[in-house]
Order: sequence, then structure tokens, then C-alpha cells
Amino acid sequence: MKITDTSDLWWKSAVVYCLDVETYLDWNDDGVGDFVGLSHRVDYLAELGVTCIWLMPFYPSPDKDDGYDISDFYGVDSRLGSHGDFVEFVRTAKDRGMRVIVDLVVNHTSDQHPWFVSARKSRESPYRDFYVWSDDPPNKDEPSVFPGEESGIWEWDEKTEQYYLHRFYKHQPDLNVANPRVRDELAKVIGFWLELGISGFRVDAVPFFLELPEGVTDLDPHEYLRDLRRFLQRRSSDAILLGEVNLPYEQQLEYFGGAEGGELSMQFDFVGMQAFYLSLVREDAAPLTKALGQRPTIAPESQWANFVRNHDELTLDKLSEEERQEVFDALAPEERMRVYDRGIVRRLPTMVAGDPRRLRMAYSLMFSLPGTPVLFYGEELGMGENLDAGGRAAVRTPMQWSTGKNGGFSSAAEKDLVAPITPDGYGPEFVNAAAQRHDPDSLLSFIKLLADRFRSSAEIGWGAFHVLEHDQPSVLAHSLEADVGRMIALHNFSPDARAVHLRIDGEAEGTELLDLLEEGRQELPADGKVQLDLPAYGYRWIRIVRPGQKRLS
Ligand code: GLC
Repeated sequence: MKITDTSDLWWKSAVVYCLDVETYLDWNDDGVGDFVGLSHRVDYLAELGVTCIWLMPFYPSPDKDDGYDISDFYGVDSRLGSHGDFVEFVRTAKDRGMRVIVDLVVNHTSDQHPWFVSARKSRESPYRDFYVWSDDPPNKDEPSVFPGEESGIWEWDEKTEQYYLHRFYKHQPDLNVANPRVRDELAKVIGFWLELGISGFRVDAVPFFLELPEGVTDLDPHEYLRDLRRFLQRRSSDAILLGEVNLPYEQQLEYFGGAEGGELSMQFDFVGMQAFYLSLVREDAAPLTKALGQRPTIAPESQWANFVRNHDELTLDKLSEEERQEVFDALAPEERMRVYDRGIVRRLPTMVAGDPRRLRMAYSLMFSLPGTPVLFYGEELGMGENLDAGGRAAVRTPMQWSTGKNGGFSSAAEKDLVAPITPDGYGPEFVNAAAQRHDPDSLLSFIKLLADRFRSSAEIGWGAFHVLEHDQPSVLAHSLEADVGRMIALHNFSPDARAVHLRIDGEAEGTELLDLLEEGRQELPADGKVQLDLPAYGYRWIRIVRPGQKRLS
């Protein structure tokens, strides 16, 4: 596809930033972040180079799963503000050239949702079939997504004497998507938020959401997902569905709608992310190279979302038992750093013992891999975690703005904060936005540079991807090529410097190699053979500047 106007498919070259309103900035000092506070930080996000803000759930909720247990799909949690505050925020973001997407959590509701309250009153409730009930569950022994916190996926309801299904916590009963009334309600929810100006949804737990109850044969889940996407596009032609599908690539391809697309617009690359950590630990590019090589070809409109960390545990479930153990031993040596036998509840800086070279290499890689980068708030600063918060909450501590009270997040008493501040050497005293904004050598400045170069390098989000062969196993060298041009990127997983010898074919005489992240320029010899040097944990982005090329390099 010719890239004439990259804003056409904006998600192909977006910089996505995930945040939770309640931990971002507390404007009324009640201890809970709010939309007014967030609106005051829109300029910070614009300056960072973010083009799409992903809001974690902000809906009314008993908050037993950090808002992923929703009791009103149409509301705004009153602690965070009102619909008016939400719309003001979306408008402000748009004014600064940013889009907003919101979490769509429709695999389940909270057990406090009026539908479930009614459904469990009696078997005759008009909402009974909004959920999945059984007298004798077929798969009673299946583990919950949260092993250790939940014993199974079926909960006995005393009053109506049936079990209900809950893939996640028992206070999150699964919706029955086989019920057409449920599908109609969910479409209305989507339509509602689109009317308020958002550009799409991060769709939670997609494979579970589309799971049909035993015996249902008259609905094809992928056909339904296609319908949903069509509905979305009718209501808003450039809105997207960014899906959470932690499955092997072949199955992810199905959720894209195959090589033709038509289902999810984007999906997180969980497989690539996990392989990246294995590469990091082994100081060997091979695991990541292998994973990237297995990525299926997707439609030009579809896109991969690359990430280093998200708000959940760093899941390692796609690695083998031994590989997982290897990563655990290196990056999460203590039991309290792990959850569910599969994941790590630390952020990257603490896992690499604060080594700025490894941190920068990781983010340089994330921004240069084919796809769209997704940052989790605080990553741009190198925030750490608070393991005392327990489980996944460890990485959900308040944003660290300054050295002020509670890291500048809120002036409320510490005991009233929605989440505890990070206490140790990664706390606000050492890691905060105010100090880093004024420091050209800070991680924040580096991430700004990456976002900037990414945005002016459409070949990353759009281009054809190839791994370049060379003589250094610790280095991933890849090329990205589109009609706008070509670039290559190199990343060294080794603590030792490396000289990489490779061949860049197919370029005319007079072609130059221009470094994009720092000063540097060399001529490409006629035979295409070059030596490219990398320091320990080094990284380079190189634009291939063809003779006469007018691009701003
Ligand atoms: C997704 C979310 C996670 C949440 C779960 C249940 O996996 O990322 O945070 O707990 O769904 O909604």
C-alpha cells in the first residue's frame, strides 16, 4: 500500500500511552486522581509525543479488580469526575492532536451490575440469560485466569441453585454473548462512547468475551466480531478495536480476521514481548528473532501493538517451563515478585537493576519493531514498583510528577491515597517528571526522542520487515522498508561492544547511512558491505538516504 497520508490509518503510526485516571493526577486532593487532573497533563503527554491516550476503566465499579469490574457501562466513577469532565478531557486531547481510546470490558460485569443483581434474584429474571448458568458445569476443573486467588471458574448461587461462569474473579460473572439482547446492549455501549468523541477501544480479554456457552451452535464468534467491527466503522469510520488476545500467533491471526482483516484492528504482541525478555536474559537476539519471524502476515489495515510492560503481570505463559524459570531467576528472584506461576509484577527498571543502557535499548527496540508502540504510564520516567501493594497492584502506583508531597500526585494525607507511592530508590525523590523534563540526558528526554523519530519514520508502522543476517548473535539487526524509504535498526543484547558486519543490498551508489538517534553518517560502499559498531547494550537507528532523497533525516 502506498503511504500517501499516514493519518488515514492513524493507528499504524500512533504512539499509544496507557494510564489509569485514578493514579495520574489528583486535582481536588481527595487522594484519587481525576479527569480534571488528567486534563492538566494533556500538554505533558503532547510534549512526550503521545498521539493516542488509552484510558483504563474509569466507570462506576466496586473496584475489586481495579475498575475491571464494572457496575455501569455508561457511567463515570464519581471519584474521578463527571461525564462533563470526561468530555472536556477528550476535547482537550483532540485540541493537542491526540486521540483517546477507552477500555471496553465486556467479557463480564461486576456482580453489583443491575443485570446481575436481577439475574441472580430468580431463574425467571429477564436478565437471567445475560449470564451463563449451569446445573452441572462441564469444565468444572478448569482453573481461573487468577489461580491462587480463585479456585475455579464456576460459582454456586445459593438462592437460584445453579452455578454461574466467571473466567476471572467470582465477583465478575461472565456475560453470555450468545444472547442477542446482550449483543444489542454492548453495541449501544460502544455507540455511546463513540458519540462522546473517542477513537476506539482497547478490548479486554477478547477470547473469553467471545467464548460461547456449551451447546451453542447458531453463532460464529468470529462472525460476531466482524459484525461488531462493521458496526464500529459505521458509527465512526476511523475508530479502532485494540484487542487483548494472549494466544499463539496462528490464533491471533484469526482474531484479526485472517490475512484479510475485518475483525480486531490491532492486537498486542504477547508472544514477541515474552521472547524479548528471554533475549534480554540470555543476551542473545535469537528468541526474539525467532518470534518475529513467526508473526503472521496481516492486512495493511491491521497492526501489531508492541509493548514492554503493561498494567498486568508480565506474563511469561508462552515460554516453556525452563525458559520461564530462566527469566524468573534472572528478573524476579524473589517469590513476591511473581504471580500466578506465570508472571512478574515488577517494572523494567528494577528488573535490570536500573541499568540505563539496558533500559534505553529496550525502549529503542520497542519503538523500532514493526508495529505501534504502547507505553504504560511512568515508563517514560523509569518508575519502579511497590511490591508491598501486592500482586499486580505493585506496578499501579501513582504517577511521579515531582519531589513534592506524594510525588506531586496529590496533597491528600498519605493514608487517603488511592494507591501507595513507590517508597524506595525508584520513588519520587529520585524518579520524577519535573527533574527529567529539564535534563536532556534523562530517560524522559530519550523517550521523547524515540517518539519523535518513530513519528517521522512511517516505515516502522507500515513497512515490510526483514531480519538482516550478520555475524553477532547478540545483535538484532532489522530493516523496515516502505515507499517513503528504508531504515535499519540494530540492538545489542550483550554487555560487550559489538562490531556488526552486514550487507545492505539493493541500494544505488552514493547512498548514505544516517544515524537517527545521534550524530553519525557514513557512506554505503558499492558492494553494500558495512561494519556498524555498537557499544554494550547499544542501539542504532539508521536511515538509508538515497541519492537525491528529500526526506528530512
Ligand atoms: C484483563 C485486564 C486485567 C483484568 C482482567 C479482567 O486481563 O488486563 O487487568 O483484571 O482482564 O477484566
